[in-house]
Parts: sequence; C-alpha cells; structure tokens
Amino acid sequence: MSMRWVVALMALGLSTAPWAQEAQPVADVAAGPAATTEPDPPALVGDATRGEELSAVCAACHGLDGNSVDPINPKLAGQHELYTYRQLKLFRSGARENAIMLGFASVLSNQDMRDIGAWYATQRVTPGVANDAPIREGEELTWAELGRRLYQGGDAERQIPACMACHGPTGRGNPGSAYPALAGQHADYTRAKLVEFRDGMVWGEGTRGHPITENANVVMAGVARYLSDEDIEALSTYIEGLHRAERRPTGRAVAGN
Ligand code: HEC
Ligand code: HEC
Repeated sequence: MSMRWVVALMALGLSTAPWAQEAQPVADVAAGPAATTEPDPPALVGDATRGEELSAVCAACHGLDGNSVDPINPKLAGQHELYTYRQLKLFRSGARENAIMLGFASVLSNQDMRDIGAWYATQRVTPGVANDAPIREGEELTWAELGRRLYQGGDAERQIPACMACHGPTGRGNPGSAYPALAGQHADYTRAKLVEFRDGMVWGEGTRGHPITENANVVMAGVARYLSDEDIEALSTYIEGLHRAERRPTGRAVAGN
C-alpha cells in the first residue's frame, strides 16, 4: 500500500465523525486510492529552496547536501535535476525496483521531485580517491589507469564503448534527464549498478517520443554486457576519483519533463 494511500485513509478517518464510523460504507474507503492515482499535473522547473526542505528525510542516507557517507547509498550532490526527477518517478512507479526508495518516492508529487532534483543539482559532490595500486603484483598497470583507459577509450575489440562519449570526459553527464553525472560516486554503488546492468537490468520504459530518454533505459545493459569483473572494478574506482573541479553543480534549472 502506498504511503499516499495511507495518508488519504487517515484523512478520511479524521473527517468522519466517530458515530458514523461503524456505518462507513466500504465504497467510500475504496474511493481513497482511486483519487490519488490521478496523474500529477506536469511539474514546473524545480525550486531548490523547497527541495532542501523536502530532502530533510533523505539526509539520513544520502547526507544533508547529497554527499552520503555510507558507500551503499549513492551520492546525489551535483546530479542533474531532470535525472533525479526521472529516477524518483521510476522508483515511485516500481519500474526501478527498490523497496526503500519505493517508500520514500511514493509520498512525493512530480513537483516535489523536481524541487528535490533542483536542490541536489546546486550541491557539489565530494570526490573520493581512485585506487592507484597495481592490479597484479610486479606489473605496472593500476586499477585507476585501466579504469581511465576504458572510460576514455572503451575497447572496440571487446565491444565496450567509451563511457566518456555519453557521460563526458569529466564524468559530468549532461543536464538533460538521460545522462547522469558519475564523477565522485562511491565505487561500491557504481560497481553494484554495473553488475546489475551487465545482468540485463533495465529501468522502466523510457519516455516514448522523448528525444533523449526514449531509449535511455536499455542503453546501459548494452554498454555493460561485455565488461569483466576486473573492468567493473577499474571503472568504479576511476569514477570515484574523478576530480572535484571537473564536476561542478549544474546550478541552472532546465525545462522539460
Ligand atoms: C534508508 C535509506 C534511504 C533513504 C532515507 C532515502 N534513500 Fe534514496 N536511495 C537509497 C539507496 C540504498 C539507493 C540505491 C538504490 C539502488 O540501488 O537502486 C537510493 C537511490 C536513490 C536515487 C537514485 C540515485 C541514482 O544515482 O540513480 C535517488 C534519486 C534517491 N535515492 C533519492 C532519495 C530521496 C529524494 C530521498 C528522500 C525523499 C531518499 N532517496 C531517501 C537509500 C535511501
Ligand atoms: C550511449 C550512451 C552511454 C554510454 C556509452 C555509457 N553510458 Fe552509462 N548511462 C547512460 C544512460 C542513458 C544512463 C541512465 C539510464 C537511465 O536512467 O535509464 C546511464 C547510467 C549509468 C550509470 C548509473 C548511474 C546512477 O547514478 O545510477 C552508471 C554507473 C553508468 N551509466 C556507467 C557507465 C560506464 C562505466 C560506461 C562505460 C563503460 C557507460 N556508463 C557508458 C548512457 C551511456
């Protein structure tokens, strides 16, 4: 049951006089969820100030400014407004499956999601440090260097595209809804996502007719298909170390849904 439904039921209970409760027809109760499934009106460009207030409940896991401490919770600081908005909608619909985020997203309206997206977009991500140790003892190639090579150049022979082509040379993605910023993200989170993408995970159905997001959902499953465990490890640590100065907050609100 969605939390909005619970709220609707609570509101119904409060507005019903105690003497009438026994006789409350079942149909009236059932009307609650029907009313809440009406589509939200299209969201306007996000309001970061309102988003900051709304994000208070997210801070326990994602950090006050979107820089989470526990590496299993992704950093949201510096992420693009429309990307955050789209992911929250995917969690709310269940298309992107995650029990925790389903709960938090189901109480948010489309406008709330844009406002939250705007807040995190104005924050600056705190980058981590890439692993500079050699992959194999006695050899020169480090995890960070293998990650850099794959990120910037891919590996045509193994059908691995350059991540840079879509996520940008500095991992900033672009402010549209499709290409997320990656720089500074916890390696644990990136690794987990890449493994899931390799296993064929697809988030939702994209937005039909939308020039960028129509196929956004299937892209990463294709990209990650031929990545080895070693590739994933190298990419994850390289991305975590991508430099602070290279991932500035977008700050600017972008129109679109
Ligand atoms: C109890 C911990 C917890 C709380 C509280 C929480 N989240 Fe999350 N969130 C997570 C986890 C874990 C993930 C990773 C889910 C996955 O692996 O798909 C996540 C993922 C996300 C993502 C996707 C990030 C990406 O890069 O794709 C967004 C956006 C997000 N959360 C926003 C929020 C917002 C907004 C709130 C508050 C309204 C919130 N979260 C509250 C744990 C939490
Ligand atoms: C053709 C464009 C394209 C290429 C090339 C590409 N990506 Fe992506 N990537 C995307 C899109 C689009 C998404 C968002 C998918 C969505 O939201 O449905 C994404 C999402 C991701 C995510 C999830 C981010 C998050 O916050 O949850 C990670 C991690 C990622 N890509 C890593 C990589 C790596 C590593 C490479 C190189 C091996 C790469 N990508 C190459 C388009 C691309």
